[in-house]
Amino acid sequence: MTTELDENTRDKSVTHNQRADVQARYHNRRSRSIALIERMLRSYLRPYIWLLGISVLLNVIIAATTGALPWFIQLAVDEVFNNKDPDMLILVPVGVVAISFIKGLATYASNVIMNFVGQRSTSNLQRDLFSRLVHGDLAYVGQKHSGAYISIFMNDATRLRATVSTMIVSLIRHLLTVVALIAFMFTINWHLAMIYTVIVIPMGIAAMRRLGRVTRSASRDGLQETGEFSTLIAETLSGLRIVKAYGQENDQIDRAGSTIDRVLEFTMRAIRARAAASPAIEALGGIAVGAIIFVGGYQSMQGNLTAGEFMGFITALLAVYQPLRSVANMQTVLQEGVAAGTRVFSILDAEDHIVDSPEAGILKVDKGAVRFDNVSFQYDGREHPALNGVSIDVQPGQTVALVGASGSGKSTLLNLTLRFFDVSDGVIEIDGQNVRHVTLDSLRRATALVTQDPFLFDDTIANNIAYGSPP
Ligand SMILES: Nc1ncnc2c1ncn2[C@@H]1O[C@H](COP(=O)(O)OP(=O)(O)OP(=O)(O)O)[C@@H](O)[C@H]1O
Ligand SMILES: [Mg+2]
Repeated sequence: MTTELDENTRDKSVTHNQRADVQARYHNRRSRSIALIERMLRSYLRPYIWLLGISVLLNVIIAATTGALPWFIQLAVDEVFNNKDPDMLILVPVGVVAISFIKGLATYASNVIMNFVGQRSTSNLQRDLFSRLVHGDLAYVGQKHSGAYISIFMNDATRLRATVSTMIVSLIRHLLTVVALIAFMFTINWHLAMIYTVIVIPMGIAAMRRLGRVTRSASRDGLQETGEFSTLIAETLSGLRIVKAYGQENDQIDRAGSTIDRVLEFTMRAIRARAAASPAIEALGGIAVGAIIFVGGYQSMQGNLTAGEFMGFITALLAVYQPLRSVANMQTVLQEGVAAGTRVFSILDAEDHIVDSPEAGILKVDKGAVRFDNVSFQYDGREHPALNGVSIDVQPGQTVALVGASGSGKSTLLNLTLRFFDVSDGVIEIDGQNVRHVTLDSLRRATALVTQDPFLFDDTIANNIAYGSPP
């Protein structure tokens, strides 16, 4: 008996803790999503605030014309067919044609504007990302394979671009249209409108929130895996000679195969979650139409609802379906964008350690003496230091060759001189000036580097020779 009680209490405390844990994680994620959206708005969408303003105006027009259509249907049934009003016979069709034209023009203009804003803001982000990589510390940039960066540039940035464009359209156009149509429903018959808004919308939102969570995790894992796939491609291509020399072709193919399978699995998980969204809304829509026919029919039998009002209401209900679905889908699209954005911003936010010190002066090379004084250095993640208390004195005009076994630290000495990395201990001086106390720009202007791995840019030989010299 006692044991059972103990078990019970223990179980409860576990579930309670777990729930608190899940909630905390959820809130964390949520605030992170909000921070990311805020940042996107502040840094990348703000320059286009005017265009967004014009777009909002255009979309007010689109929403109003969409909201007007059910009203014309109502007039057509009540005034043209029932009351046989000859004026309305002309006015209603002319009105329908006019609003369709206006809506078409406004839709065209706003699509172009909103997509321009979406595309432009993400190209600016890509530009920043590129400049971040070029300026980034070698130690940091070297942590990821080039394939992973390419994937972030291509896949994550593209995903983010799609999200921004879709979000702007959904948020402005579809939300306004939903508001206009539901407002129209309320003006016709608030009973029916209440049934619709109370049953369908909250249920739809609840379903979408669940699906949004699944999509985000699948989308994040999928992008990660895509990055690994690009790494594998880049690696295989650059090491193709080695792969062939050791007969490892099939091994590489197997590795690629399993990565491709994992990408497929995550993609399918996201697709299933997204696909589940439509039937969910469709089913809810069916329930809504059924309920409206029942309640509307009853009211009509009581003489409280005309056929035109009923038709107008059903038209509005059918018209609201598509924009409502986009609004409900917003959460899913947003989550995909957040997954991509998190990866993009994590690169943008990496902090540099190799920077000019606040009191850095310009390196003045007079004679060209280089001195290493007790220099030690250890690469991140390495167990042993690459250099340990090295002192070298190079006189002006002297030519020095460092000879040593592979891995003994020859290239490392040059890396430290040019400050690709900073010494862990000791001092490197050029003409008596500590390289850490002069600007990076002046240091690298005063030096030239020819590395052991020949490297050519995809450009003419002349341009490769002239690389870095002023035009
Ligand atoms: N970017 C890096 N990250 C981590 N460890 C590194 C890095 N570059 C070099 N090392 C390690 O530091 C040590 C010294 O390497 P370094 O490249 O300076 O040798 P080296 O004398 O130039 O060799 P080689 O004659 O092959 O060019 C080696 O153990 C090497 O594995
Ligand atoms: Mg070397």
